[in-house]
Amino acid sequence: MPRTKIAQVDPAYSTSFQADRRRLSWRGLVMKRIVFAALAFLAFEGAARAQDVAAGEKVFIKCKACHQIGETAKNAVGPELNGLIGRHSGAVDGFNYSAGMKNSNLQWTEENLSEYLKSPKQKVPGNKMAFVGLNKPEDIANVLAYLKQFGPDGKKAP
Ligand code: HEC
Repeated sequence: MPRTKIAQVDPAYSTSFQADRRRLSWRGLVMKRIVFAALAFLAFEGAARAQDVAAGEKVFIKCKACHQIGETAKNAVGPELNGLIGRHSGAVDGFNYSAGMKNSNLQWTEENLSEYLKSPKQKVPGNKMAFVGLNKPEDIANVLAYLKQFGPDGKKAP
């Protein structure tokens, strides 16, 4: 008689034990998938950013005729562009800005820069940057990704 009892208890116990184990390993699998997805996403993000920067460097070739950036950057036809994002418009010492740029009173946020690079004459009337503007929104986004790397000292942020 005691044997039957054990036999009656045992299957129930072992079934619930197996179910627990199944649930646990399923959870482990889900966790692994989440971790994998997060890592894949980060790798993708990093690669996408590197791609933007590389594309932006190509766009910057157009700006290079007049602008310098980096640790050795000096004012040329246009002012140096280090630490540009967050900078006040017309604020580089020693650069002879137009009255239009001097009086524009803008903070170079990404939004203001996008509008300026799309249509310099429209965004800052009377400014003397002889550049028609960038037509493609992705060119603007990429060149901003490139410019953003350089801090006020011209060093690239790590
Ligand atoms: C033909 C020369 C020329 C080219 C090409 C050119 N710029 Fe300029 N840029 C200037 C000049 C000159 C000024 C100063 C404008 C003024 O004082 O009115 C200026 C001003 C600027 C400013 C404002 C800086 C400040 O200190 O307020 C930004 C930002 C800028 N340029 C970005 C760019 C970018 C990005 C490109 C390329 C997509 C570019 N420029 C292409 C000549 C140029």
